[in-house]
Amino acid sequence: EEEKRRHWFVGSIDQGTTSSRFLIFNGDGDPVASHQIEFENLYPNSGWHEHDPLELLRSVEECIEGAMRQFVDLGYSKSEIRSIGITNQRETTVVWDSTTGEPLHNAIVWPDTRTKGLVRELKARESSDSLMDLCGLPLSTYPSSVKLLWLLQNVDSVKQAYEEGRLAFGTVDSWLIYRLNGGAKADKPVHVTDSTNASRTMFMNLRTMQYDDKLLGFFGIDKNKVQLPKIVPSSDPECFGKLASGPLEGVPIAGCLGDQSSALVGQCGFSPGQAKNTYGTGCFLLYNVGTEPVISKYGLLATVAYDFGRGRKPVYALEGSIAVAGAGVKFLQNNLGFIESSSEINTLAESVPDNGGVVFVTAFSGLFAPYWIDDAKGTLFGITQHTNKGHIARATLEATCYQTRAILEAMEKDSNHKLESLAVDGGLSNSDLCMQTQADISGIPVDRPRMRETTALGAAIAAGLATGVWRELEDLKEVGRNGRKVFMPQMERAEAERLFRKWEQAVEMSRGWVRE
Ligand code: G3P
Repeated sequence: EEEKRRHWFVGSIDQGTTSSRFLIFNGDGDPVASHQIEFENLYPNSGWHEHDPLELLRSVEECIEGAMRQFVDLGYSKSEIRSIGITNQRETTVVWDSTTGEPLHNAIVWPDTRTKGLVRELKARESSDSLMDLCGLPLSTYPSSVKLLWLLQNVDSVKQAYEEGRLAFGTVDSWLIYRLNGGAKADKPVHVTDSTNASRTMFMNLRTMQYDDKLLGFFGIDKNKVQLPKIVPSSDPECFGKLASGPLEGVPIAGCLGDQSSALVGQCGFSPGQAKNTYGTGCFLLYNVGTEPVISKYGLLATVAYDFGRGRKPVYALEGSIAVAGAGVKFLQNNLGFIESSSEINTLAESVPDNGGVVFVTAFSGLFAPYWIDDAKGTLFGITQHTNKGHIARATLEATCYQTRAILEAMEKDSNHKLESLAVDGGLSNSDLCMQTQADISGIPVDRPRMRETTALGAAIAAGLATGVWRELEDLKEVGRNGRKVFMPQMERAEAERLFRKWEQAVEMSRGWVRE
């Protein structure tokens, strides 16, 4: 049995904000094959951010094909893949017609701020104060609830489908699982979500792990008119169905985790007090608080970290969400033409010794944690004749590091616990300069694993646990652990404090300068 287990593989679909990937992991948690595709991000109006749900699906299918070609070329076969996990960008909202399985609108992506006005109205309602205690999230443009409400109020085909009971709602996990199972054509269409993803909608009660009538009622959502995905645990051999076509036809989907939960699992952050910070399109710090949710008083979110089911209690996290990390680098590349590829950011930032007095509050989607300023705008401070592209590149990287420091302070107050070191992963964590800056600004060591595919690994772990590749969390201690690099704080503390105070002042100045 042990011998057989050693030859099993698990696939992982990682559907993120700018790209989709499929990776195949062996039992040691090492990736043996992978394929990645970038797809189009649509910005039809200022503050709007959309994805075409069919393009997301196609990109995932093509990634599976690409990685499988590599896998087979290496001499392996489909029969060695026990199961597949899915991890995904969270909150992004998809609506489709349950009779045809076709989308009714582009997906509204998580940093989209078109709901700013709507959120202001909702916040003015008396009962709005009681929501956070139930669902762990503050009212903002970020969760799925306000995105669905906007679609219901503004898109005729969505309204009509709702009135006729044909409207299906889901986050990206639900959409992919539904379509990969064959969509409306399947004998039994599969419409589910896991509790980590459901905890980002604002419709789920954190304690019951079910939809809450008070939350749905606040948003005026009638659950008899909209088909909400069934909430299931993150790891299960049956409830996610199996692939209906393609090179992995018939292979079960057995794990599903929102991408930030998945990274915590991939870093094996299974004990209370463990945390990780993932620098992707945005940047998200998750801190494991154990089996009882902690509702934040200092601007963090309470969320489900993972829920492995089969008698195990769900585990919760406090989360600090930053909307712009890699997105800032993409902005310098695509909008300002400073660089031709993301990896050039380092050379550009290293071309100057410091930020030259520039602070960049990258509030492209308002500011998320711990500030929650919906109407903040991206603002560059401190520009002089001395300023060049290098200073702006440095200030872009620093913005994420400052916000992480602010989140660490909030986390310390909420949990009464100071993190001793910060485990990191995600694209921008490849930048030594950015990680050194993070250590300098936050004053704690930054600990980076050599295997940085932790987000994809987390979903593979969820699937592998459900299908016997790993039996218990204990089995995972060595999985994906193959060396780390630690960045120690080097900057004088007084200098770090001075820089951070300047950042805080800049944040204050970026708020609400134009009321729309
Ligand atoms: O909450 C949004 C988050 O899940 C997106 O993650 O990796 O695309 O920045 P990422």
